Amino acid sequence: MSISARKVLDEVKPYIPGKPIEEVARELGLDPESIDKLASNENPLGPSPLALEAIQNAIKEVNFYPDDSNYTLKQKLSRKFGVSEDGIIIGNGSVELLLMLGLAYLDPGDHVVASDQSFIMYRIVSKMLGARITEPPLKDYRIDLEAIAKAIRPETKIVFLSNPNNPTATAVFREEADRFMEMVPDDVIVVWDEAYYEYTKDGELPDGIDYLKQGKNVVVLRTMSKAYGLAGLRIGYAFSKPEIIRSMMKVRLPFNVNRLAQIAAAAALDDEEHVRRSRKLVEEGKKYLYEKLEEMGLFVTESYTNFIFVETGHNGREIYEALLHKGVIVRPLGVYNFPTAIRVTVGLPEQNRRFIEALREFLFAHSKQKDGYEIPQHTGHAVGQSAGT
Ligand SMILES: Cc1ncc(COP(=O)(O)O)c(C=O)c1O
Repeated sequence: MSISARKVLDEVKPYIPGKPIEEVARELGLDPESIDKLASNENPLGPSPLALEAIQNAIKEVNFYPDDSNYTLKQKLSRKFGVSEDGIIIGNGSVELLLMLGLAYLDPGDHVVASDQSFIMYRIVSKMLGARITEPPLKDYRIDLEAIAKAIRPETKIVFLSNPNNPTATAVFREEADRFMEMVPDDVIVVWDEAYYEYTKDGELPDGIDYLKQGKNVVVLRTMSKAYGLAGLRIGYAFSKPEIIRSMMKVRLPFNVNRLAQIAAAAALDDEEHVRRSRKLVEEGKKYLYEKLEEMGLFVTESYTNFIFVETGHNGREIYEALLHKGVIVRPLGVYNFPTAIRVTVGLPEQNRRFIEALREFLFAHSKQKDGYEIPQHTGHAVGQSAGT
């Protein structure tokens, strides 16, 4: 007799990550050195040199468990962001913090709101815990905060917002976010998932910490995986009210954040220069990519992140496969219900050029009739994208 897993898991489709370089090399017989991974929004400059130096010194001590209290890192974060240490929790990547929040607050049957076509882990965490989720559609590729507010019901516990939004790269702005926060009832937790925070310009987008300081029930998620270049070590952090952090601490496993991750993160937080260089690389890369993609007549949204969302007018999966064979890994967005779109991480200049070349070759070889997809008529940046709208 087969043993049944929990019924709610029938509803859960596992997360599909960007394809690793090693796997592509193995499957296609390519040299790993020749493969460009532009599929997971990692930092192509690598980790902060300060972080590398710190973990090199610490590597001989991995026989010891990590500091379970994350003392040094919390101290640093507290000073840097002006949030008290009891308002901070560290996770094995920020995705772990999403799960902890769900475990702490979602009973089966509770209700969650998240935008459709947003970071898929919100749906996965909600469904695995037996919560019901309402996902209002995007509007012009942006999270529709009015629709999100309308979807909140008396049994709603959590609202998840990815700002900027993965995978569309768009953002919601300060004024509309302020209006939204005024509308949210006090007994709902709003998660501001700011994984790409370091890539946004100062003051350009709402900062979830401001809402926390106004006394709102928010959880602000940040990660060391993107601008800080530590994705492989798995470390992220959250700011919230001490009572919410205390509830999350109850579902945290001991030693959830490994020793090297803590040490690297503490060093990387001091490396402002590395973040500046990473941001500059992304700004310059985006200019190049916009120009080339627009030359090809493709629609892109205005990106507030280190990746670009491209509507290609062709089957995104086919483009993904074709590019894979040329050693460029991008992300097809069918799973996000964008069958003709791809997401590409801004890479080093040479990687961006290789991506553009590979895409150009594909588009040249494929006619509109053959694929049966309409090339989107609009070109240029997405509709309605200006600060304060
Ligand atoms: C919006 C968003 N939140 C969270 C994450 C997860 O980051 P981490 O590596 O910290 O788990 C990602 C990663 O792609 C993301 O895009």
